[in-house]
Amino acid sequence: MSDPHTPRTMGQQFGRRSWAEPWKIKVVEPLTMTTRAQREQALREAGFNTFLLRSDDVYIDLLTDSGTNAMSDRQWAGMMLGDEAYAGSRNFYHLEAVIQQCYGYRYVVPTHQGRGAEHLISRTAIRPGQVIPGNMYFTTTRLHQELAGGRFVDVIIDAAHDPHDPHPFKGNVDLAKLEAVIASEGAANIAYVSLAGTVNMAGGQPVSMACVKDVRALCDRHGVKLYLDATRLVENAFFIQEREPGYADRSIAQIVRELCDLTDAAWMSAKKDSLVNIGGWLAVNDEGLFEELRNLVVVYEGLHTYGGLAGRDMEAMAIGITESMQDDYIRSRIGQVRYLGELLADWEIPIVRPTGGHAVFLDARAFYPHVPQDQFPAQLLAAELYLDAGIRAMERGIVSAGRDPQTGEHQFPKLELTRLTVPRRVYTQAHMDVVAESVKAVFDQRAAATGLRIVYEPKYLRFFQARFERV
Ligand SMILES: Cc1ncc(COP(=O)(O)O)c(C=O)c1O
Repeated sequence: MSDPHTPRTMGQQFGRRSWAEPWKIKVVEPLTMTTRAQREQALREAGFNTFLLRSDDVYIDLLTDSGTNAMSDRQWAGMMLGDEAYAGSRNFYHLEAVIQQCYGYRYVVPTHQGRGAEHLISRTAIRPGQVIPGNMYFTTTRLHQELAGGRFVDVIIDAAHDPHDPHPFKGNVDLAKLEAVIASEGAANIAYVSLAGTVNMAGGQPVSMACVKDVRALCDRHGVKLYLDATRLVENAFFIQEREPGYADRSIAQIVRELCDLTDAAWMSAKKDSLVNIGGWLAVNDEGLFEELRNLVVVYEGLHTYGGLAGRDMEAMAIGITESMQDDYIRSRIGQVRYLGELLADWEIPIVRPTGGHAVFLDARAFYPHVPQDQFPAQLLAAELYLDAGIRAMERGIVSAGRDPQTGEHQFPKLELTRLTVPRRVYTQAHMDVVAESVKAVFDQRAAATGLRIVYEPKYLRFFQARFERV
């Protein structure tokens, strides 16, 4: 074990050169410091669910990287250029052109956020009874597929379910699994293949370009469509540039484009990669599908030239997309996540390896081997982290997996994780040190922790609103 404060912050000691953020801070937002007694009360009132805490009671907020981005001065200036016309806002045309250029699809439909896009694509592309194979489920994505009458089937490689497997592309599709699903269901019964880059629930793990090429070829052989969840594709592109032979000299923007060009359509929660606080889109190449989506967006989101967004939000998104594709930005973004992961790994704290793009995932099973999975170890770990120093994390285990829609029983995922999600351009390296030290303190107290039970559970996406108490 090494002292966390020397090797990483003084990188040259190892003969390496450190990265630093390609921006400086212009505006700051004060944070609230709380006492342990205040946090105990706040956590009780929140039913041991970090989603139900007030943000004023949180010191360092690593709940999510979704919509928590700090915007640049260019983006804030863009907000002043908002054209709030009901129809035909100039900001929509700017956004459309940027998406067409950066992601490469022909037709663009804006939505208020990712799940708005998931809703539209699921309603349009899935017939009841159809199957959607994908590289691990995501909560809202799978729910919209199920609400449309579809059934999600996981075809990710086995390594993705093992927190300690060092595979560089743990988001990859297992082609044999995908082939087997197509063979057993019949190609006509596959709505589309749902490909995510990077894979959130696997720990922010990337998919390789070689894998996407193979999936494309397999889909072509069977006449199956390939749709992409592009929410964190820029982060995925960084890992391709870093790890995949032949990509070291390609820019992030080129890699993003090459990957999108292998797919037929994409949906996006712009609240992640695109450095905004709200927004999303759907983009497709098929004109007929676009016609349907353009019609449906009017019913559920808003007119097809605003999709539930203000003109200023679309402008900030257009600028944010361009900023997100800059190589030095993405290197510092992933560098910060990796910095936190390396501090924890140096202390032999069990985390998902390799560290992913947007978060460090703690292996809650390894923290609390004495807590059975149906007493929610990852939920417990998030609660203990909050109690220790006011750091807010998120459960990504059995609570997030929800219940089987047929049997009503808990679904027991192999991964029982607590996610420390790093917002983009928000916290400093000193914040990461404080987080690591708090995780260490909780780890040192792990033997004393006891499990939780559910006292309230909503029907859909229970992790957002469920309440718990100590067993
Ligand atoms: C991979 C992925 N897809 C889709 C979504 C849904 O996006 P939103 O939260 O904007 O509705 C998320 C959000 O966390 C996500 O991580």
